[in-house]
Amino acid sequence: KKAALHVSKYFKVGEVDDRLYGSFIEHLGRAVYEGIYQPESPFADEQGMRKDVLKLVQQLNVPIVRYPGGNFVSGYRWEDSVGPKANRPKKIDLAWSVVETNQFGLNEFMDWSKKAETECMMAVNLGTRGIEDAKNILEYCNIKGGSYYSDLRREHGWEAPHDIKLWCLGNEMDGPWQEGHKTAYEYGRIAAEAGRAMKMLDPTIETVACGSSSLTMPTFGTWEDTVLMECYDQVDYLSLHQYYNNHADNSEEFLANTVAMDQFITQVISICDSVKAKKRGKKDIQLSFDEWNVWYHSNEQDKQIERWTQHPHQLEDVYNFEDALLVAGMMITMLRHADRVKVACLAQLVNVIAPIMTSDTGAWKQTIYYPFELISNLGRGTVLHTEIDVPFYESQHGDTPYIDSVVVMNEEKETVTVFAMNKCLTEEIDLSADLRQFEGYRVDQHIVLTHTDLKAENTEDQPNNVVPRNNGNAKLDSGRLNAVLPNQSFNVITLK
Ligand code: AHR
Repeated sequence: KKAALHVSKYFKVGEVDDRLYGSFIEHLGRAVYEGIYQPESPFADEQGMRKDVLKLVQQLNVPIVRYPGGNFVSGYRWEDSVGPKANRPKKIDLAWSVVETNQFGLNEFMDWSKKAETECMMAVNLGTRGIEDAKNILEYCNIKGGSYYSDLRREHGWEAPHDIKLWCLGNEMDGPWQEGHKTAYEYGRIAAEAGRAMKMLDPTIETVACGSSSLTMPTFGTWEDTVLMECYDQVDYLSLHQYYNNHADNSEEFLANTVAMDQFITQVISICDSVKAKKRGKKDIQLSFDEWNVWYHSNEQDKQIERWTQHPHQLEDVYNFEDALLVAGMMITMLRHADRVKVACLAQLVNVIAPIMTSDTGAWKQTIYYPFELISNLGRGTVLHTEIDVPFYESQHGDTPYIDSVVVMNEEKETVTVFAMNKCLTEEIDLSADLRQFEGYRVDQHIVLTHTDLKAENTEDQPNNVVPRNNGNAKLDSGRLNAVLPNQSFNVITLK
């Protein structure tokens, strides 16, 4: 098979917002306890934070981490998680049927964020709580001092404000599983009023309204429209969430999900712009794809978990090679919409549907760690418009190109990087591109992530089963790029 990529450095989609490479830590399973925090571990620092995990998070180069949920936030009482640890209550968490000890809380997370070299994207509880609580947590976090909650923070030992800039107004409020689930109108109203009060308190913050919790929700479309009609002026972003699975064990269909994701993004942009027209709006609502990943491997074993235990093994998907391919494809898809998708969070970061896993003896990288690491580190700059002539196959989502690709130019570093995923399971594809505009460039590296077994996994005992290698054959002769993309492979070709 052959493919021709057409690109021009003058036709730009947009700047990549670094926050496109965000992630997510929820009080769920072993994400916090035994994940980022384990005081009794030999890997813990003086605050109980796992140093081995911090190192792997830093390598991922994650600029923002959403916290503390997820479904957890809809029953969250942030006051329980601050102050002297001995006084913090153990509470029932209805979202995950567990007991939350609150031994790791808001202030500890802010300290962890600094160590991980990331920023916090904080969510407020609009499930069981509302405007008053949203104001209070913002005051506790962002006001310097001289008021009840800001002084309380100082009393707790955090003198300087946390200055959190990005705030989620609840989580998945369209979902009947959500504590305090609401109709679109009810949610739109509370998002508007909570957002208004929060911006009165701190006009420097930005807010994210909940969109649908997946493309397949029966209310998708009308939910976005009704919510934005109520809160357009009080919010800056609308969220999208999507997880994919391969329960059907059909890899071609599984990899075709990038087409569905692309349609999802395009449709949400259309709704945002239609509400803008109806409202005579001045600004664009941007997209925050703040939960995305593959999630299904742990579904059956999670049904066995005993209720009301503390941080059980929960949502511990063991990822395989085909999951890594889809993760690459999902990131390429979001990058292709860099003009509107400004924030995205890989859900999640450690132990819970995560690229990083821990045990008492170490931390290791799952297969999905690698595409995220490569794209997060090399996919910064400007996304260029591209067209690709490539054969299609027919999937449940319609015409599905065999290659997902995107080109990112970094003017500061003087690099051009082509990310390309070959979804064809049987045949390599010869990729060519006329790059004569990029004078003086040469191929710096052609990294390939591939494996003969789509189901190959990385485990604690065999952590290097699926790893990328700089062994591709890309060549640039007289400005013409040629590269073989092996069957079922993700490729990163950097020109310098
Ligand atoms: O990431 C796991 C869960 O998925 C989150 O808590 C929720 O928001 C979504 O349904």
